[in-house]
Amino acid sequence: MTVITNEQYRPEYHFTPETNWMNDPNGLVYYKGEYHLFYQHHPQGTTWGPMHWGHAVTTDLASWEHLPIALAPDEHGMIFSGSAVVDWHDTTGFFGGKSGLVAIFTHHDQQPGADPARQRQRQSLAYSKDEGRTWIKYEGNPVLGHDSYVDFRDPKVFWHPQTAQWVMILATGQTVSFYTSPNLKDWAFASEFGEGIGSHDGVWECPDLFPLAVDGDPANVKWVMFVSIGDDPAFAEGSRTQYFTGAFDGKTFVPDEASREIRWIDYGRDNYAGVSWSDVPAEDGRRIYVGWMSNWRYANQTPTEGWRSAMTIARELTLTERDGAATLISLPARELENARTPLVALKNVAFGELQAKLAGLELDSYEIEVELPIGANLEAVGLKVRTSADEETIIGYHAGAEELYVDRSRSGRSDFHKDFAGKHGVKLANTDGRLRLRIYVDRSSVEVFAEDGLAVMTELIFPDPESKGLTVFGAEPNAIVSSFAIYEIGGKK
Ligand code: FRU
Repeated sequence: MTVITNEQYRPEYHFTPETNWMNDPNGLVYYKGEYHLFYQHHPQGTTWGPMHWGHAVTTDLASWEHLPIALAPDEHGMIFSGSAVVDWHDTTGFFGGKSGLVAIFTHHDQQPGADPARQRQRQSLAYSKDEGRTWIKYEGNPVLGHDSYVDFRDPKVFWHPQTAQWVMILATGQTVSFYTSPNLKDWAFASEFGEGIGSHDGVWECPDLFPLAVDGDPANVKWVMFVSIGDDPAFAEGSRTQYFTGAFDGKTFVPDEASREIRWIDYGRDNYAGVSWSDVPAEDGRRIYVGWMSNWRYANQTPTEGWRSAMTIARELTLTERDGAATLISLPARELENARTPLVALKNVAFGELQAKLAGLELDSYEIEVELPIGANLEAVGLKVRTSADEETIIGYHAGAEELYVDRSRSGRSDFHKDFAGKHGVKLANTDGRLRLRIYVDRSSVEVFAEDGLAVMTELIFPDPESKGLTVFGAEPNAIVSSFAIYEIGGKK
């Protein structure tokens, strides 16, 4: 069968499924030189359906090789989200004393004999002895169930060296729960976290937990917890991901004072269910992350044909101290710099002159790195990307309101859902009169990293492919832009 796909919005450098539906990234694991990306996949349709794990690998975090579907539904149900680890010391006994990959995922089906609407979610294992090319489901599946939870899913597993055990964090309704295991097969309940803290504006899903040194100080390590919350019609934002910082002893998470406030990892509408790669080599030490670039509010309706959804670019996560609180920083993974070609590089250029230089440029997929003068401007200053006579996506900063925003009201197609068009913002203080932005533009997305990764906004857009203009707006013609660079990314036309 030939599948006809409409490629109009297909990103140049973001990961997309070859055909059909994709949601959450799953099983992110680094092993023998490859970053594996599995993903929630419905191979028979462009909307959510019986879930499989699709599979791809990359060595450079920028270009991807598609591999066959790794996991398909079986007698225990569909294959929901989960994680993967390297079992370095064969704690499972699957690998005859060698190392191998183990996926820990949720089997989703219906409770037999119960109300058909009542779902059952249990955790299961699959393993691979050939670097992820083929997968064997464990005959003892499922390995962890629970009688009273309806929502009991999305296990993220990691080895905790201090207590020499595996730890699982998984979503349990409006909380997350921790389980521990010596061998990934036998799990013991350790603790539960989440009551009375954080956002409960939707079901808790897809948690992650990992340590990071604050400002690189090995004597000041904090644990970062991600919890995604599902779409609830009562809240305008739809699905999004919050984070907590705190301490973790292998059993219990104790949040910092700063975690009493709700903090989001991304203030745009389209970054959900993201998690980090496990087993990135210790000498590298980075926490690398990718999210699903959509929102459950309209994910099934976005105007692509034959395929649906992309991942964010790969990002590096660090912690820095701000106002006494360990604060998350997200920046593009440094590997992406190898995928870009410099096109424009200006230093200390007058705003008016920059506007003139940008007129007539036609750009498709690129990164902009800019330091904008914001001075005492009471009007917003910023950039418009993917412009034409009828379309523009505005990335602006309003000094008076101390707000960074993305306005996609006129960004292209938005008729597929009433909540899509609009302007979204985040409070962001600026003290030195210059706003630093890195903006990744592709055929159907913008990702804005402001102030060295302190605030991030990821937004889908669906412009006409011919909307290729770029302008800057809002400053006096003689205001000085200290630096402005454009890099093209990719090159496939
Ligand atoms: C998050 C989620 C997960 C679940 C998966 C099903 O987007 O709802 O909680 O495992 O998607 O596809």
